[in-house]
Amino acid sequence: MLTVIFVMAAEVMIFVPSVARFREDFLLSRLERAQIASLALLANDSLDMDLEDELLANAGVYNVVLRRNEIRQLVLSSPIPEQIYATYDLRDASALELIRDATVTLFDPEERVIRVIGDPVKQAGLLIEVTLPTAPLRAAMLDYGLRILMLSAVISFFTASLLFIAVRALLVRPIKRVVSAMTSYTLAPEDTRRIIEPSAKVAELREAEVALKSMETEITSALRQKERLAQLGGAVAKVSHDLRNILTTAQLFTDRLEMSQDPAVTRSAPKLVNSIQRAVNLCETTLAFGKAEEPAPALTGVRLAELVGEVIDAERLAIGDFDLSFAEDVPATMVVRADPEQMHRVLSNLVRNARQAIMATGACGEIAVAAREDEDEWVVSVTDTGPGLPPKAREYLFQPFQGGARKGGFGLGLAIAAELVRGHGGRLVLEQTDETGTAFAIHLPKGFSLVEEGQGSAAEKMVAAHQV
Ligand SMILES: Nc1ncnc2c1ncn2[C@@H]1O[C@H](COP(=O)(O)OP(=O)(O)OP(=O)(O)O)[C@@H](O)[C@H]1O
Ligand SMILES: [Mg+2]
Repeated sequence: MLTVIFVMAAEVMIFVPSVARFREDFLLSRLERAQIASLALLANDSLDMDLEDELLANAGVYNVVLRRNEIRQLVLSSPIPEQIYATYDLRDASALELIRDATVTLFDPEERVIRVIGDPVKQAGLLIEVTLPTAPLRAAMLDYGLRILMLSAVISFFTASLLFIAVRALLVRPIKRVVSAMTSYTLAPEDTRRIIEPSAKVAELREAEVALKSMETEITSALRQKERLAQLGGAVAKVSHDLRNILTTAQLFTDRLEMSQDPAVTRSAPKLVNSIQRAVNLCETTLAFGKAEEPAPALTGVRLAELVGEVIDAERLAIGDFDLSFAEDVPATMVVRADPEQMHRVLSNLVRNARQAIMATGACGEIAVAAREDEDEWVVSVTDTGPGLPPKAREYLFQPFQGGARKGGFGLGLAIAAELVRGHGGRLVLEQTDETGTAFAIHLPKGFSLVEEGQGSAAEKMVAAHQV
């Protein structure tokens, strides 16, 4: 409908000038015919009345005056039925005047007689003037106008039909397809088969489809990952539960070890007991907390040198006779405010990573743990002479399951360590990593207190209370 309206509007814009043009042509042809009729008179001066009337009727005029030069003029005349209504001079009429006169003729239904002046063709004189009725002119103009209108109606109808078909095929149908693809995707967003396949021919629509496809692909993979994580959460809960039971049994046996007569056994027994106790605690907090985030730390004064000593002792057991040395530079009196269990996990993850990295190279190496403090924070650094972080680990640093580049590793250790340090209000920083080694630093702020404790969820408070 819009196309029909637009084409018709465009037609009106050309309708008025072309009707004006038609009128001008009509009048000029009358002048021409009148000129020919008057020339017949010129050829034969003694024309009889009947012949003169016939000539005038053929020319469609009442009178003709052809001025050949200043004196000579030829006249054909027949009676004029009424007074001359208006005179139009075509010799110097402007386009606007022609349009105005045409409009007046078109909208004036009265039959009038007009006089028209023009230049004779082929310079056959100075001027030609005819008198003629408006009725045939108006009838011809109406006929011509109607023909134009009919033609434009047909053109606009055809254009509109073609446009309608094109819009349907190129836009409406693809848009409907996109909408139905979106609806179907919404019903099962985890199904990759429902992701839209771009097929539109129109560039803009195709762009929209491509953008939609990439969005849907992202959503689907995020959903799948979430689902995997939820399943993993369930698995972790089950494993933690049964592991705790197994460890409790082991604890009963280690208690007996402490009573052993063998001095080597009695020396290592407390460490074993401690390790198992830690494992039991970890299982219990995981079960109690039941979410992926770590529980809020239970802050106490921790003698750092002792903690580092324990971590290093445990790692030393794992190196066997590999050529790897540990250096510890922690002031014996330094006490940091931290959760001892969590800090133990942070340090052992860092030291273990360093040890595994060095051992994987097969060359000898050193791991150094050092600590210093200033007014605002404690800084514990773990430095090694290993091969440096592989690019993948660097790219996904501290992101769970992403940065693991070690065979048998899960890529969780660094993420856990970073999260635990964050829980203390601090940050874990990769200070340096290249082929000469890697250095991580744990920054623990001194002014940190658990503001979240007051606002934490019921579960968090329960865990905190449990740990206290
Ligand atoms: N000190 C280091 N020197 C060299 N590479 C390291 C060091 N620490 C970590 N990496 C690299 O970073 C990766 C990620 O370490 P992360 O501890 O997060 O996971 P993982 O050790 O692979 O597995 P796990 O979850 O068992 O700890 C490792 O696979 C290892 O390639
Ligand atoms: Mg690790």
